[in-house]
Amino acid sequence: MCGIVGYVGDRSALPILIEGMERLEYRGYDSAGVAVVNGDMTVARKAGRLSELEAELEGRDLPGLLGIGHTRWATHGAPTDENAHPHRDCSGKIALVHNGIIENHDVLKARLVGEGHTFMSETDTEVAAHLIESILQERSCSLLEAVLEAVNVLEGAFALVCINSDDPDRIIVARQEPPIIVGAADGVGLVASDIPALLAHTRDVIPLDNRQVAEVSRGSVRVFDFAGEEVTVEPVHVEWNMEAAEKGGYEDFMLKEIFEQPDVVRDTLRGRVDREGRVKLDEVHWDDETLRRISKVVVVACGTSFHSGMAAKHSIEHYTRIPVELDLASEFRYRDPVLDETCLVIGIAQSGETADTLAAIRFAKEMGAKVVAITNVVGSSITRDADAVLFTHAGPEIGVAATKTFLAQLVALNLFALYLAQQRQSMDPAKTAETLTALQALPEQVEEVLRSQGEVHRAAKRYADASDVIFIGRGVGTAVALEGALKLKEISYIHAEGYPAGELKHGAIALLEPGVPVVAVLTGAKLYDKMLANIEEVRARGADTILVAPQGDERARALANELFEVPVTKPLLSPILDTVPLQLFAYFIAKERGLSPDKPRNLAKSVTVE
Ligand code: M6R
Repeated sequence: MCGIVGYVGDRSALPILIEGMERLEYRGYDSAGVAVVNGDMTVARKAGRLSELEAELEGRDLPGLLGIGHTRWATHGAPTDENAHPHRDCSGKIALVHNGIIENHDVLKARLVGEGHTFMSETDTEVAAHLIESILQERSCSLLEAVLEAVNVLEGAFALVCINSDDPDRIIVARQEPPIIVGAADGVGLVASDIPALLAHTRDVIPLDNRQVAEVSRGSVRVFDFAGEEVTVEPVHVEWNMEAAEKGGYEDFMLKEIFEQPDVVRDTLRGRVDREGRVKLDEVHWDDETLRRISKVVVVACGTSFHSGMAAKHSIEHYTRIPVELDLASEFRYRDPVLDETCLVIGIAQSGETADTLAAIRFAKEMGAKVVAITNVVGSSITRDADAVLFTHAGPEIGVAATKTFLAQLVALNLFALYLAQQRQSMDPAKTAETLTALQALPEQVEEVLRSQGEVHRAAKRYADASDVIFIGRGVGTAVALEGALKLKEISYIHAEGYPAGELKHGAIALLEPGVPVVAVLTGAKLYDKMLANIEEVRARGADTILVAPQGDERARALANELFEVPVTKPLLSPILDTVPLQLFAYFIAKERGLSPDKPRNLAKSVTVE
């Protein structure tokens, strides 16, 4: 949450900061601000989208070779100009931006007010600026030393980026939990909370580790632990390029990302299936004996990643016969789960930074479990906390609503389930090979689904004014129903609920009345007739039916007000196809309602606070 950028170099900082903030606006967009040093510290802040700040800055000259910028997702204090970052100390010489929550801000504020500091905002962040000022006054030390002292006083979660107009050559960065990346290239020093903001300058980045402080100057980065000891760090090379972080002619990132899915599926499979029809996962280094000893798999994730985990439970249990528990990461460690060294925990997070998922896997490790992470971001926190990492190769996902990373997760999870089954010899090798062939056919099948966007668009126009939409499915189709409902509600603000179809008659059926759209996912051969029966129940209440059904299914056609046909694949892989029309449905409805699908209200792309 919150986008942070920082620049020190030989060019005017402001345009570079604004460009970086544009690339990071998906992390928070309720207000934005910049601070630039040119002798004095100049700060500009504005509530609302970044464009409001840009309008405010129009025609203003803000020269300076050092600066920081921030796009905010509010935690403490309403999204106003005053609460927008950067925040300053009393002298106006120190400016800082922050992502996270400073939990002891009340106590510190009382102390600092007692010392004579004046606060200008309602944020928790401002306390850090005054604390650093107070340390500088007391010790006459460098900004680096003051920040090193401050981080040992601040409690909670913070990625802090701080500059001092008395020292225009460096940016000091501190991390306790929320991600922050630093880099240096050709006489410039760079800071950002996410990779896309750095791609224009460098593809070699240093994601700071937890409890580290960096001093970023022109062409150099020095990193220290919180005790002030300098540590050696190696940059991580990022394969993504600038083009991947652009809209590439599409109206919105979300649409571009939906249409990238055939390649994403292809790329996530690439190199992971050998010629003999076996899964090859070099990242998973456990020996077969260790894999055979696994007695239970626990999947932890949030939001869309939770839904991919929900579908994966079916695949893992079916292929491996290992029991699978599925937990929302935010609930997991508070329910006293039973874990030991024979348990394998799968943490799924496209960003690799979701605070609850990180906390869940750390807890699992403390309990002795093995942890594998499924993530899309190289160098993200989850990659350091997990014992093994399986990357999804989706490229940067900028749209706040997860789309292509969901499909990539489903592919990676199915591969992982097949790998477990293969190494434990719990699945007939011929069946494994057959399933892998079906997986490899998916990119073209996703392309086929995308070609029928016209039908989905027509349905979206028809139901764009709905106030409630119910989604139902069975088996893996339940995960698709929940994901379809989440997509719709988060970007169109229509109330949407996903249910296992069999549960409908235990309560939610009371919501049905003539005209209410019910989206039903008709997958899974053995559940097909039961789904048809549920669809009949829906129709009997006068509700409209929007069916996701196998191509050429005449029984489905006869029962549908709108029909989204998808090619046939193996039932356990069907979410990879069935989800696509529902992503498009949500997207087109949001557009019909005049909303911005890339930046839905109140949301942020990475949820780095609990
Ligand atoms: O980065 P993660 O996969 O851990 O993110 C989890 C959720 O925050 C995320 O899926 C969220 O639900 C999206 N807005 C869904 O579109």
